[in-house]
Amino acid sequence: MHPMLSIAVKAARRASNIINRAASNVDLIHVTSKGPADYVSEVDKASEAAIIETLSSSYPSHAFIGEESGNQGDSEYVWIIDPLDGTTNFLHGLPHYAISIALKHRGILTQAVIYDPNRNELFTATRGAGAFLNDRRIRVSRCTKISDSLIGTGFPFREFSSVNRYLAIFHETMKKCAGLRRPGAASLDLAYVASGRYDAFFESGLGIWDIAAGALLIQEAGGICTDWDGEDNFLEKGQIICGNPKVFSQMLNIIRNHPE
Ligand code: IPD
Ligand code: CA
Ligand code: CA
Repeated sequence: MHPMLSIAVKAARRASNIINRAASNVDLIHVTSKGPADYVSEVDKASEAAIIETLSSSYPSHAFIGEESGNQGDSEYVWIIDPLDGTTNFLHGLPHYAISIALKHRGILTQAVIYDPNRNELFTATRGAGAFLNDRRIRVSRCTKISDSLIGTGFPFREFSSVNRYLAIFHETMKKCAGLRRPGAASLDLAYVASGRYDAFFESGLGIWDIAAGALLIQEAGGICTDWDGEDNFLEKGQIICGNPKVFSQMLNIIRNHPE
């Protein structure tokens, strides 16, 4: 394992200890609201602090983009962190959430970790060296037809200006695929595309921390990620379509049927 990836795994495991301890007593967790339907708990903050402390003790000059603490430092190495992805699930005791950590070097994603503490599933990737689930190499699915595919998505929940467009895409996808799912943790949705559990996924209104690690996993697993225009700016736009190459292009066609 690349040394930077192994430090990121260490950081994710430390964060998961904090999250696991708190998960047995979610009623006691102090929660504040960042906006309508957008919650942050003391656990998100403690998890992020532990991740940044672990990474910065090995790499004191690196920069960070953390969902909870914002941008820190200036370096050609930037760690992008979602310390608890799926906070709403977590706060309701629904065991589907993860920690997501990615590294960008000179603007290119190079390392990725997504850790699911409930299933003890560790997804990792290093650019050029493939994607893994625990010790096993993963690949995107081989499904070729959208009619046979299982597709993941995320509903708009904070910002509803494009909800009609979303619902039109949702409607068409629902009729064309074999199943549509909304589990509630974008990082795991992307890890599931990389490991072939879903054939494609689409969502908009995401943060860079929701998708950076998952995008590298998918690329290293032989899949494709773009924004909703079929271009490369998914990190900046927070808008993603991804999947195995065949189902991805059928999903992109559906999205193109419903322009802004
Ligand atoms: C959220 C989850 C959810 C997605 C939201 C994200 P958070 O992250 O990934 O699946 O639909 O857009 O904000 O707030 O739980 O870290
Ligand atoms: Ca998130
Ligand atoms: Ca989060």
